[in-house]
Amino acid sequence: MSKQTDDFFKSVVSHAKEYGFVFQSSEIYDGLSAVYDYGQLGSELKNNLKTYWWKSMVQLHENIVGIDAAIFMHPTTWKASGHVDGFNDPMIDNKDSKKRYRADQLIEDKIARYEGDGKTAEAAALLEALNTALNADDLAGLKSIIEEHNIVCPVSGTKNWTEVRQFNLMFATQMGAMADGADQVYLRPETAQGIFVNFLNVQKTGRMKIPFGIAQIGKAFRNEVIARQFIMRMREFEQMEMQFFCRPGTELEWYNKWKETRLKWHLALGFDPANYRYHDHDKLAHYANAAVDIEFNFPFGFKEVEGIHSRTDFDLKQHQEYSKKKMQYFDPEINQNYIPYVIETSIGLDRLFLTVLCNSLVTEDLSTAEKQDSRVVLKFPPALAPVKAAILPLTKKDGLPEKAREILNTLKLDYNVQYDEKDAIGKRYRRQDAIGTPICITVDYDSLEDNTVTIRHRDTMEQERVAIGDLERIVNDLAGWNTLLKKLI
Ligand code: GAP
Repeated sequence: MSKQTDDFFKSVVSHAKEYGFVFQSSEIYDGLSAVYDYGQLGSELKNNLKTYWWKSMVQLHENIVGIDAAIFMHPTTWKASGHVDGFNDPMIDNKDSKKRYRADQLIEDKIARYEGDGKTAEAAALLEALNTALNADDLAGLKSIIEEHNIVCPVSGTKNWTEVRQFNLMFATQMGAMADGADQVYLRPETAQGIFVNFLNVQKTGRMKIPFGIAQIGKAFRNEVIARQFIMRMREFEQMEMQFFCRPGTELEWYNKWKETRLKWHLALGFDPANYRYHDHDKLAHYANAAVDIEFNFPFGFKEVEGIHSRTDFDLKQHQEYSKKKMQYFDPEINQNYIPYVIETSIGLDRLFLTVLCNSLVTEDLSTAEKQDSRVVLKFPPALAPVKAAILPLTKKDGLPEKAREILNTLKLDYNVQYDEKDAIGKRYRRQDAIGTPICITVDYDSLEDNTVTIRHRDTMEQERVAIGDLERIVNDLAGWNTLLKKLI
């Protein structure tokens, strides 16, 4: 099955649910729109993705440290950052279906339909009109485009639209006991501001010298007008962000370095490089002097997974102005005080998770002349696999389970491993294939005599006989963090 189809995407979503990777939140109450829970295997995969990112940022770079800032921040933070006034999406309602849409997405869908019908000139003209209206914050202009291009509501099929209005994406809540006397605070819409407001704390206590970076992994919340495509656009999600502080004037050099470094990080996972590309921003945000997205070819087309932005000194300057605290750094090399410039790398953990699922899920035809057969495999990079090895006694008796558990008890000190004695061995192999376990270790009667076991490899299905004493080294060589990290240095 081609991976660029709706059917493949549906198979990813259903596999994720069936094997305990991702569940809809509060499913027993019919779910909560655009909120998802990670199950027993999904949370392992997610943790492994975080570890891969954290180690590659913090462990491999002497000049990058990590923090864990709170989700709640002083409300002035979001005034200074521009989110209170400017973190909006243009929305429009259809009066017949009562459905709400993002005006820009309705137009983007129309552009995609023009492209699908081979009307490239119309698509290009519409894209230009959209960008012009968005850049000018021209809400009436967006409405006119929708009308001129006969864009109808996908549900009611009518053009009975409201005006286009701005909708702020931040979730607000009250902090303090009394709702009326309490302060309004926000659930953070990005983790980055937790880094900016701690810039001086980290610089001083860590005696950091520019250039240096601060990394953080954490939840972010956005009240997306329209959330779709599974974990692609969620209302509660996780970001992995790094702000790299540098001397003004050097920022574009660092921007180019981080642009290259981040793509290399994605490609080190070993998936097809043709499915990754840069998308340079033509129109820059007012605070940026360069910006690029790393896009992945999802089943629904190339979409952003990570953004790399050269944010100038905008954020620190804003916080200096609003807090009245100096955000300056004294650079002993040039004997000057300045507000550092910042390169940001920002990746959505959930989107990254989805790229790994889409890349890894394959159905293989194993049919022979005698019988039809196939298997479903998650070909995860071994270091990311939720379960690194399964230990399978050939039978449930004669001391084989005990021998298998001895192996389990050694390997589990370093790795997440599973014991499974139920069903025929072939069926157990297939179960492990479907959750992406790189190797199965089978304990048989010979194991009791000579302390050897059979290893069956997920991707090739080849088997080899190895000494039990070598297992820790074998698992480490196959699935240890070094297998990924050594590609980055
Ligand atoms: N601090 C910069 C920032 O937040 P962004 O482009 O808005 O930039 C960065 O977000 C990344 O966060 C995106 O590339 C995407 O992977 C992820 N992301 C953003 N909104 C998301 C959502 N609603 N659901 C899932 N991931 C999201």
